[in-house]
Amino acid sequence: AGAATSQAASAQVLVASNRGPVSYTLGDDGTLSAKRGGGGLVSGLSAIGPETDAVWVCAALGAGDREAVRRSGGHLDGGDTGGQSVRMLDIPPGTFEAAYHGIANSVLWFTHHMLYQTPLEPVFDEDFGRQWAEYEAYNAAFAEALAQEAGQGATVLVQDYHLTLVPGILRERRPDLRIGHFSHTPWAPADYFRLLPDESAVRVLRGMLGADRAAFLTARWARLFTECCERVLGATVTGGEGGAYSVTYEGRTTRIGVHPLGADGDFLRERAHRDDVAERMAQLREQVGTGPDGSPRRTIVRVDRTELSKNIVRGLYAYRRLLADHPEWRERVVHLAFAYPSRQDLAVYRHYTAEVGRVADAVNEEFGTEGWTPVLLHVKDDFARSLAAYRMADVALVNPIRDGMNLVAKEIPVVSDEGCALVLSREAGAYEELASDALCVHPFDVRETAEALRAGLELDAATRAERTRRLAETATSQPPTRWLLDQLEALRP
Ligand code: F6P
Repeated sequence: AGAATSQAASAQVLVASNRGPVSYTLGDDGTLSAKRGGGGLVSGLSAIGPETDAVWVCAALGAGDREAVRRSGGHLDGGDTGGQSVRMLDIPPGTFEAAYHGIANSVLWFTHHMLYQTPLEPVFDEDFGRQWAEYEAYNAAFAEALAQEAGQGATVLVQDYHLTLVPGILRERRPDLRIGHFSHTPWAPADYFRLLPDESAVRVLRGMLGADRAAFLTARWARLFTECCERVLGATVTGGEGGAYSVTYEGRTTRIGVHPLGADGDFLRERAHRDDVAERMAQLREQVGTGPDGSPRRTIVRVDRTELSKNIVRGLYAYRRLLADHPEWRERVVHLAFAYPSRQDLAVYRHYTAEVGRVADAVNEEFGTEGWTPVLLHVKDDFARSLAAYRMADVALVNPIRDGMNLVAKEIPVVSDEGCALVLSREAGAYEELASDALCVHPFDVRETAEALRAGLELDAATRAERTRRLAETATSQPPTRWLLDQLEALRP
């Protein structure tokens, strides 16, 4: 542990996030197998290069991770992490549960995605106080680890709603550091944000304002954050061109930035043409089948975590509406709905997952025929199969209630074989960049969504190809590497 600490304490770049770039499963025989995480942050950070000695601080998420921490002392590197230096924190399970499921996923996530459902949720009772104290402890554990690992004057990039208190705590402990915070979620409007218990609303904002710079995926989320600072804290907000505000509070100024994360075009194009994807395409084509005239059926594709904010059930209602109002499409189209289980420790997610299954079954029951299953719902997470569906999509359905960005909207046009029409919610962060080439919908408007699906299916091939080309160009203009390097650059003194 001594050697690891002295090497790590010189780190000049640090990233902190709840979920790290590697996770472990503990086998029955006691062996640990590592799985490297995918996603923008992982590929972005790898691009900084080993010479920076970057350290990634993350939480142990399950029994496998905890065992890996126990065996390694928490400093992981080498093969398992792709050379990345990782410091994994074994936060006591009770603290982790309360912070992650309790405050982060059940309260802050619901706030920013505007998912409160009266009259049943949320309930702030004495358990909230206990969970909030654990959220503070969890944030303090991250801040402590970062303070230990960071070299003099280092840059620290803190990620997301799990870690809103870290910048404030870390600044007290290490005033020499350059601290950035990045929100991957939307930000709630002030009236909605103020539904949080007063003290926690103040603490979240004060915590984030401990950063030199707080950044968001779109100018819209940046603006809403500054409105909360003004209204809840009485902070002074100036500027605002393209989201570049400054927030001054208690004598310190935090700059606000906007970095719309894009798709990793090079990676996706290469990955989507490997053999395993071709195999999955053949299987999917078989399942989709051919229409009455013998030509392959068209596809409407969606790929999501089974997440309340993704609006999967209304997507199915819209598809049902399409089949009801436009019988000419029956037998000629299949909805490939890939909905991968997520946050199943929370009852409301389990109920939602069940509801998705029920509605998909009901559509199949109502319209299906001997040789045609209108909805193919796949729930087993399979990246190669997702990419196969991306390549085959005639229409991509991305209709979230509210979403920080939504990378699926950016990824599908990049790998689409023959061009696809994008049906896109105006409440997705990606809307700000992609609206002009998408069929835009109000996420609650099922009829409008059904019409957009029909328009997408009927879009002529040349227009579709041209729009897809432009969408792909925009979608890849801020690849993860650029996104991360821009943030480091913006934090330079
Ligand atoms: O910012 C949202 C986020 O943290 C993303 O990284 C990811 O899309 C999702 O939530 C993952 O959630 P979880 O880590 O709870 O599975």
